[in-house]
Amino acid sequence: MKDGSFFGTLPIQATVVAGKVDLLYEFLVWLSVFFTVLVVGGMLYFAWVYRRRPGHKSTAIHGNTLIEIIWTVVPTFIVIVIFVWGWVVYKEQVTPPYNAYEIKVLGKQWSWQFIYNNGTVMTGQAYIPVNKPVKLIMTSEDVLHSFFVPNFRVKQDVVPGMYTSVWFEATIEGEHQVYCAEYCGGLHSGMLAKLIALNDENWDKFLRGKEIKLAEGNTPTTDQLASSAAKPEAVPLIERGRHLSEVKACTSCHSVDGSFKAAPSFKGLFGKSVELSSGKNVVVDDNYLRESIEKPAEKIVKGFSPVMPTYRGQLSEIEMASLIAYIRSLQ
Ligand code: CUA
Repeated sequence: MKDGSFFGTLPIQATVVAGKVDLLYEFLVWLSVFFTVLVVGGMLYFAWVYRRRPGHKSTAIHGNTLIEIIWTVVPTFIVIVIFVWGWVVYKEQVTPPYNAYEIKVLGKQWSWQFIYNNGTVMTGQAYIPVNKPVKLIMTSEDVLHSFFVPNFRVKQDVVPGMYTSVWFEATIEGEHQVYCAEYCGGLHSGMLAKLIALNDENWDKFLRGKEIKLAEGNTPTTDQLASSAAKPEAVPLIERGRHLSEVKACTSCHSVDGSFKAAPSFKGLFGKSVELSSGKNVVVDDNYLRESIEKPAEKIVKGFSPVMPTYRGQLSEIEMASLIAYIRSLQ
């Protein structure tokens, strides 16, 4: 086990990025210790050496260019190092690999729900693969929450009405605690969940809806076992989205084969850069689709009229995720 200890103050490092975050953190702590000792030590030393004594008279000092250059250049160099180092680690932390396995996360007062592409929904705990990148696409049903996994050194606000995301690649099998790190009402402190990192064999079983045997010490309760296998009635998100696009009449205006109708075709839409009537360009991603479903008049694609009614409040978060998954599948 890789211990992120730092005198027992840090949780285990369960991702590669965690080690890099800790190294930067430790550098900042030691740098602060060094300058605190230097400044406070110097202050005490000079206060003693130049204390008022009979027979000693102070002399006026009118500046020292060399010292002033040194105390400007050295700190400038140090803050540039901190900035570049921080930027490199941050960039790695926020840029998911293209092959990351995606799981939708729904935060609500006061629980975490995890929705898999095969339609399985897990609450309060979720299975993730070990040594494979995972990307969470998160939203909230009510107020601001914050998804925090100390072992992974990831924390991200979860905001109603939009999607935010985090990614990680767990390197240690077993349980990793999730907290809510944004005060969200009475039971905020009880808004917990567990991520259980599975080895390849178990992960594969889970995806195929089979029962999983966990290692000693990670024995799931009967409840957990019951929710671990994909339910037979669980409908894959894409299927659900396809069905919804028909019953909600999306497809009366949006074709799915690229043919021309009253609104842009869903085919090949996701990931495309489209020109808006405002002249601006926008890349079609989860957030743009969500906005266009809830507030259709906001960003109209050039050449189309704002005729779509709002679907705000008419879709549950899972339905929204399903529709987006369906549109995304029509590449
Ligand atoms: Cu959710 Cu605090």
